[in-house]
Amino acid sequence: MKTIGIIGFGNINQEVARQAIASSKIEIKWILDRSPTKKAKREARQQLEKSLGKKLRFIKSKDNLSSKTDKVDVIVEATGAIGAIEYLRFKRKELKWGNDVLFVTANKAMVANHLSEFFGSSNNDVRIEAAVAAGLPLIRSLSEHIVSDEVQGMVGILNGTTNFMLDEMEKSIDAGNNQTYDMVLNESIQRGYAEPGGAGDVDGQDAAYKLQILSRIAFGTDVFPNKNLIRGIDDNEIFDRVRTVDFIYANKYLESTIRLVAIAQSTSKAQPFFLVHPMLVPKSSNIANIKGPDNYIGIYSKYLVYTDMQGKGAGPEPTACAMLADVFSHKSCTDNTNEKQVIKAFRDSNDVYFSRWMVRGSCYDRPGVLAHIFRHFENKGINIDEVFQLQVGETGREWSKKELNFGKEQKKILPFAFTVTKTSLGQLHKTLSKLKLDNNFFPKRDKLFAFYPLLELKFAENGVQKFMIEE
Ligand SMILES: NC(=O)c1ccc[n+]([C@@H]2O[C@H](COP(=O)([O-])OP(=O)(O)OC[C@H]3O[C@@H](n4cnc5c(N)ncnc54)[C@H](OP(=O)(O)O)[C@@H]3O)[C@@H](O)[C@H]2O)c1
Repeated sequence: MKTIGIIGFGNINQEVARQAIASSKIEIKWILDRSPTKKAKREARQQLEKSLGKKLRFIKSKDNLSSKTDKVDVIVEATGAIGAIEYLRFKRKELKWGNDVLFVTANKAMVANHLSEFFGSSNNDVRIEAAVAAGLPLIRSLSEHIVSDEVQGMVGILNGTTNFMLDEMEKSIDAGNNQTYDMVLNESIQRGYAEPGGAGDVDGQDAAYKLQILSRIAFGTDVFPNKNLIRGIDDNEIFDRVRTVDFIYANKYLESTIRLVAIAQSTSKAQPFFLVHPMLVPKSSNIANIKGPDNYIGIYSKYLVYTDMQGKGAGPEPTACAMLADVFSHKSCTDNTNEKQVIKAFRDSNDVYFSRWMVRGSCYDRPGVLAHIFRHFENKGINIDEVFQLQVGETGREWSKKELNFGKEQKKILPFAFTVTKTSLGQLHKTLSKLKLDNNFFPKRDKLFAFYPLLELKFAENGVQKFMIEE
């Protein structure tokens, strides 16, 4: 029988408690939560007490823990707070429970913000399987097996919420009923995939935290990537969010779909490369066929060549299951790198080149407007490749105009999309930021444009599908 203490009594740990009780191999000794009497937690609490036939011990502060009487085999933490690192420190320093008490967490934000406290030879008291791609045994496979090989790159879909949203938007095209971004976000909140507002998921940060943790294991990179290399499906700053019409252009003209792709590579330069960005991916690729809230990771390495995994990346049940697997784990699964090998930087530049990008936007429907746009691009040294035009009456032509809501100017607006040839993220960003300044051709508002790189599929030996970014 293992004894556990639980920190955070929300969606995940309520399920951990349920599965622990059902397993009959785990005894819950205490539950620490900052607001255990909240109405939303009452029902879960009563249910657990009913099946246990006794009251659970709830506490509100770590200061109520006694190093003698509250010692457990494992602490299971799922609060979502970056500051929950205080509990790991408390266990190590004040309670002096050292390696006797394992600390299992699903909290990727905390891990990514304090990598050095989770990795390294002196940190054998932590397990983080559920923090990345919850239900996939990814941390264990990478850190105990694949890492003995030389990892060259990883490409994945690491956020189930946004994958669900993108998939729902695309599915609505056939039905001709435009499930807008707001509609699919609401749907994903109702299904329990996203937090209200979706922050963290939609801005790419959640996927970035996970890729950062994987990069620590694969490449020994101990730092934050450049913020410019993390974009989600809703850019709250300058550019427009992903809209259903983008799938129409991608499907019809480029045989692609859109996915929020997380990609990291070891490079010929000393620092690994890191990028989280919505991308056009070929319909024929495995990454395009990840549906709903599933997660996917493909890892390229020298001898194993290619290892991939797909499965449930979120949700209380798979996450709790992964945490309980950690509770029963024996070996360290956190690190293989010698502390001296830790790399202190990612490639810190937005000189990330793709051979094609798609740009979508809105302008006034005036003579010469497209020539104006193309001239602006060419002046910046970027070549226009193909121009896409949805015909009047064609599905999607009015969708983005309506969603963007140009008010009285609605009728004057022309939606457009085109591709450009090889250019960098930084260059495209700069070019589009300057373009909208001409009020003759563009309405006065932010977020007129969206852009996507086309992730090219390369077939390596044995038909292995590879996505490596050329540098
Ligand atoms: N949901 C998923 O599918 C999923 C999958 C994999 C990993 N995770 C990770 O699991 C963690 C928990 O997610 P969740 O969905 O269970 O969140 P949640 O429902 O919001 O539960 C978090 C619980 O912890 C409490 N809490 C927050 N900060 C605390 C602190 N500093 N000290 C003590 N208690 C604190 C919260 O109290 P209040 O009610 O007062 O806020 C709440 O009861 C997150 O790190 C998340 O990234 C979630």
